[in-house]
Amino acid sequence: MAYDVIIAGGTIVHAKGNEKADVGIVGEKIAKVGKGLVKKGDTNGARVIDAKDCFVMPGALDVHVHLELPFCGTTSADDYDSGTKAAARGGVTTVIDFAIPYGDESLQDAVNNWKGRAKKSCVDYSFHVAVTKWDRHKHEMADMVKQGLTTFKQFMIYEKEGWQADDAAIFGALEKCRELDAMLLIHAESSRVLDELIARHHNEEEMKALGAQLHGITRPNFIEAEAIQRAVKWAEVTGGKLYIVHMSTGEGTDIINDAHKRGLKNILAETCIQYLVLDDSVFKREDGHLFACCPQLKKKPDQARLWKGLKKDTVCVISTDTCTFTREQKAMWNGDWTKIPMGMPGLETMVPLAYTYGVQKGRLTINELVEKCSTAPAKIMGLGDRKGQIKKGHDADIAILHPNRKIKVNPAEMETNADWSPYEGWNLAGFSRTTLCRGKVIVDDYKFCGENGWGQFLERGKPGRV
Ligand code: URP
Ligand code: ZN
Ligand code: ZN
Repeated sequence: MAYDVIIAGGTIVHAKGNEKADVGIVGEKIAKVGKGLVKKGDTNGARVIDAKDCFVMPGALDVHVHLELPFCGTTSADDYDSGTKAAARGGVTTVIDFAIPYGDESLQDAVNNWKGRAKKSCVDYSFHVAVTKWDRHKHEMADMVKQGLTTFKQFMIYEKEGWQADDAAIFGALEKCRELDAMLLIHAESSRVLDELIARHHNEEEMKALGAQLHGITRPNFIEAEAIQRAVKWAEVTGGKLYIVHMSTGEGTDIINDAHKRGLKNILAETCIQYLVLDDSVFKREDGHLFACCPQLKKKPDQARLWKGLKKDTVCVISTDTCTFTREQKAMWNGDWTKIPMGMPGLETMVPLAYTYGVQKGRLTINELVEKCSTAPAKIMGLGDRKGQIKKGHDADIAILHPNRKIKVNPAEMETNADWSPYEGWNLAGFSRTTLCRGKVIVDDYKFCGENGWGQFLERGKPGRV
């Protein structure tokens, strides 16, 4: 058989074990996984990519990103150009963003807006569709599913932005998801108590004394835990599929674990890499406000409980919640933590951080990393038939990683538009030496070499694990 590309001599990493084999690619698809595809030095016209001493991994899916998001009085600084170039360098070949309606927009308006932005994407993409006006949008959800948009999003906070869903809306959306075989993603934070805590501390004296630390102080763990508990109850009684996004607390993992013990297979949770490697001590730094994200970073014991949750599969996915703001944008806070644009860059460093702090530190095996960053997110988001595995017939989305080569994080040398990094100066292994997206080499020797517009919109199938 003639291949266009052969990835030769590497160790293929699957979610359930490793394999010493080559990968033969024809066009955009994996045509064969097997030994000795280069016969006696004869490449038969194929481009051969040497993967000797390297891991050959399925491209990662970051199923929680916000690119060019109008938010917190500004617009997030990574768009589908810089954001997906950053993704490629980090071995991420699929991103799922959130299409959010503004004002009176319909779900279709939101999807059309996001499709317009994504035209320049360098990697494949899809959207979760945010249901922000329940009474109107509930009638539009079936049409989204017909378009391969099978996951919806609701926020339990963000009243000012006009995004907040109340309990009735969440209950209704879970019922609707059950009817449509769709899945509901929830940002779980308890808004009324959160607002109360913010109001209690929002005074000159405390802001002067505590600055960005107030971001953490006003969001104790129970703010997330109570909201997760409530969403889990609505999922339990409706039978709708629920996926808790960016879970940041140890309490959250306990609640999900409990639900699983009770046999509730319709309830899933992701965490984000920042909650695994950073903690709220950063808010004491002079530039601590840069680290404000929502939910905010928690404490070291939460990190440990989240890593354990991943190991036990209580937490099924690692994502980033990429929502980049530059130093200048972050400076809008001017000493008031409620005005910090919330979010951080993440796409370029997710896999390197999971590799360096997960695999190299013995918290996850390399196979578990592939499970959490590729195979599970693909299946859960309805892309399991073409993404997330190195397998004949799947898209040739591949990241080749050297097991030890470290690169120091330096924002000036990265693809993200961020002029800072939460991980600046950290030495990370696990950057992608070579990335392929649907058969095309988009990173070579750690440098982006793809093109805008290569990324395709992905219609997705049935989401979830049940
Ligand atoms: O800080 C964050 N995460 N910004 C994006 C919005 C969200 O809640 O995911
Ligand atoms: Zn959120
Ligand atoms: Zn988010």
